Amino acid sequence: MASPSLDRYDPDQAPTARDKGFDKVLDGIHRGVVAVDRFINRVIPEEFNPFYYLGGMTNVLWILLVPTGIFLWFYYKPTTSDAFSSVNYLTAVVPFGGIIRGLHRYSGDGMILMAILHMLRNYFTDRYRGFRDVPWVSGVVLLLLTGLVGMTGYLLVWDQRALIITTAIVQALQSLDGIVGGLGSFMAKALLAGNEPNNLTLARMFFLHVGPAVLIFFFLWVHYLRLHRPKIWPPMFVTLLTVGAVVLAAGILPIEKTLAAGVPLASDGSSSIVYDVFYLLPVLALPNLGGAGVLAVLLLIFGILFIVPWLPRKKHRYVNVAFVTPENCTGCQLCAIDCPFDAIVMVEGANPNPRNKELAVVNDDKCAECGICVGACPFHAINLPLAGEDMIKDKVVALLS
Ligand code: HEM
Ligand code: SF4
Ligand code: SF4
Repeated sequence: MASPSLDRYDPDQAPTARDKGFDKVLDGIHRGVVAVDRFINRVIPEEFNPFYYLGGMTNVLWILLVPTGIFLWFYYKPTTSDAFSSVNYLTAVVPFGGIIRGLHRYSGDGMILMAILHMLRNYFTDRYRGFRDVPWVSGVVLLLLTGLVGMTGYLLVWDQRALIITTAIVQALQSLDGIVGGLGSFMAKALLAGNEPNNLTLARMFFLHVGPAVLIFFFLWVHYLRLHRPKIWPPMFVTLLTVGAVVLAAGILPIEKTLAAGVPLASDGSSSIVYDVFYLLPVLALPNLGGAGVLAVLLLIFGILFIVPWLPRKKHRYVNVAFVTPENCTGCQLCAIDCPFDAIVMVEGANPNPRNKELAVVNDDKCAECGICVGACPFHAINLPLAGEDMIKDKVVALLS
């Protein structure tokens, strides 16, 4: 059966003469992703390949963060005078407190790492355009919220590190005054609940930790709205692998001891400040870029991420979009009526059979690969390359025999 779509999505196809520069690089990375997938699929059964479940693994880690966070909340006192001692008490005295703090910390690290890998995979396998603009944009919001939750988590401990980060954030915000008069100082004051850190400051930070965490639930719902049967939860093997990695990290890497905010570092170098690269990278960049510089870089990165689905790109790698076999199409319109994504247009005068007025044409950018049109067409004229009618029938027959 002739299939123009098949030619387009085949990851093995050689780069064409039209592939240049960035397109060629993307093509190479796409091929790399497919090669890694194939290698893993040879080592373990395909349905357990963790790279197919990066979004689901992010979910597992998110779900792990919630009960561990609630446990920490029971003991946490959000005031500058008591926060540090309450966290220390929880870690050293409360049974399993240290390990649960570790689980919370490492699920947070794992969550942002998995979310970034999941984003990169979707980008490099061309799964971010058309109807996927909603999951993509809500994904960028989720990334922002996750970053905010993680970063404010470090402030809640109210140790030296938290004080340094808070001072850096306040200075970064104040540097905005030069751009919009008074706005930066207003935001800094709102964050601190005054001009200096005080007992109310941590209540604000606690709100900035828990508030975005609640919003994550809402944006996850938006994230899945337009997806057809999303793999929200990975198979048991991958779930156990994810949870196991976090338990292992919490077991072998206990949370570092820190000093209370304001206590000077030992001059013999026996105490130092450890910065988490997953959430505190912007803080590490401060000495080189300055507050306004870091804010500008973050704005630029997230600004670009938000518009990625609409950036021009010459080549698409459609994965499994529907394709029409024109010789079979009678122009009956049934597929166009049933398609929930308005991905099929009826084009007048395009049908190879002069007796049929119209031909069904799939808009690749809109097709969600749901397969509804395949069931709608009585003439076997529309199919999905990776899950066509014949393939599904063959699979069912093989299963039954
Ligand atoms: C931060 C938490 C996130 C969670 C828990 C999450 C979870 C998921 C899950 C479970 C799916 C469906 C299964 C799959 O295709 O893997 C999915 C799909 C998707 N996600 Fe995310 N995601 C997150 C962040 C992001 C980010 C940062 C982006 C990109 C900016 C993104 C873009 C997408 C896209 C485009 C799809 C559709 C993929 C497809 O149709 O095959 N997600 N996400
Ligand atoms: S598979 Fe068919 S019904 Fe589903 S979105 Fe694509 S064209 Fe529409
Ligand atoms: S349902 Fe089948 S025959 Fe009818 S217009 Fe669609 S592809 Fe053509």
